[in-house]
Amino acid sequence: MASPSFYFAFFLLSLAFSSACLLVCGEEDRTDIEVDTQFLLPNDACSASNKGTLSSKKASLRVVHRQGPCSPLIGRQKRISHEQILIQDQAHVDSLQRRVSTTSSLGEHPNLDGLAASAIPARNGHSLETANYIVTVAFGTPKKAQTIIFDTGSDVTWVQCQPCVGSCYMQQDPLFDPSQSSTYTNTSCSSAFCDELTARGCSGKTCLYGVQYGDGSITVGFYAEDTLTLSPYEVLPHFRFGCGERNEGIFGEVAGILGLGRGKPSLVSQTYPKYGEVFAYCLPPTESSTGYLTFGSGYPSSTKLQYTPMLSEARAPSFYFLTLTAISVGGQQLPVSPAVFSKGGSIIDSGTVITRLPPTAYAALRSAFRQAMSVYKSAPALSILDTCYDLSGYDKVKIPVVALYLGGGVKLELGEAGTLYVASSSQVCLAFAANGDDSDMGILGNVQQRGLNVVYDVPKKVIGFSYGGC
Ligand SMILES: *[C@@H]1O[C@H](CO)[C@@H](O)[C@H](O)[C@H]1NC(C)=O
Repeated sequence: MASPSFYFAFFLLSLAFSSACLLVCGEEDRTDIEVDTQFLLPNDACSASNKGTLSSKKASLRVVHRQGPCSPLIGRQKRISHEQILIQDQAHVDSLQRRVSTTSSLGEHPNLDGLAASAIPARNGHSLETANYIVTVAFGTPKKAQTIIFDTGSDVTWVQCQPCVGSCYMQQDPLFDPSQSSTYTNTSCSSAFCDELTARGCSGKTCLYGVQYGDGSITVGFYAEDTLTLSPYEVLPHFRFGCGERNEGIFGEVAGILGLGRGKPSLVSQTYPKYGEVFAYCLPPTESSTGYLTFGSGYPSSTKLQYTPMLSEARAPSFYFLTLTAISVGGQQLPVSPAVFSKGGSIIDSGTVITRLPPTAYAALRSAFRQAMSVYKSAPALSILDTCYDLSGYDKVKIPVVALYLGGGVKLELGEAGTLYVASSSQVCLAFAANGDDSDMGILGNVQQRGLNVVYDVPKKVIGFSYGGC
């Protein structure tokens, strides 16, 4: 018979080698995660998460992946390839990194074509095809449902509007028609709200807005006010948004954008009296599940939030900056000085897919990850992702835990959903990429945020994270 001390030693051993956190998780450093390869397979059925659901949270919206089975756009949305997603993600990142604080007056324009043709700063925006997460809200009275992308990297909310005097791209929802809404009004050119726009113009006395995104997509139209309905109980009168009369680009089938940046025109700033500039979301861990976006302090969080300072930088006032200080792989901290991370700073962005790191940090991460994954057959690179594996033929695989250390002592252990980008079971890639230079701005992208509760509290200047959000 084995002695109790044998059992105790065995218990310690199994704790040390246990990949799953059973009882005392949090204190122990997990070094690897066992991944059921089921996770790698596409699922055609939507399984809605009930965490943070609409019934319990009034100002809560359901967040879905635009191309997954939970998307209201499914069926109409032509799937774009993974390669295309990653190429566009790079265009998006390039334009975020070029973005600087410029306010430009577009002057007098006899018509929208004139405004569109004039110099809307090309460095102002970013590509949207990759901004994967969508919500459905409603504009006007009576209210008309519109499915739009939510984006923490931009400020102006807009939807395509009738009569599309310039042009409109194809969308799934009927176009918003301001003449059918009893609460719609144009914004006057002399209004202080018009001055808050980064790119603006005037058509007579009417304020025009314009946004050009990094891939050349544009939206131009009237800067308007109307009622925005977030949920049956949450109605925002006089919400300011762009009524897009000329919209060109690859926006997919969505009706527009919900801008959640830090600038004055954003929904977050506009609703300060009601929601106190606090919002939270959980991006669904897989394309076939659902998450939430909620406004105000009643956000759901099943586990304790860890808070990191929310920083701001004058060079890009719309962005939410944070500090990345270190990374560990399999419990081992990478030999990268914090100075490498601080050189270009970092932001958190819901519209960037893949997290971007300083090249020095990425090289160390890649080398440690490859070492831990050396038992698996490597697979060809996928666009910007250069560390891929063929995991077909396995029921279970073990991947090292990648943890991000943020300012304020936050340690974010990424699960499989936050570590891997799955093109197919024979091409599963490390979902990180390098910037061109250590001085380029780093970005905490949406793959790494999947499944987490992410809370933005602007007055307290903190961003909170917790696990198991959706
Ligand atoms: C808004 O302004 C445009 C252009 O001046 C005009 O065609 C439209 O009728 C205006 N809408 C309202 C409700 O005033």
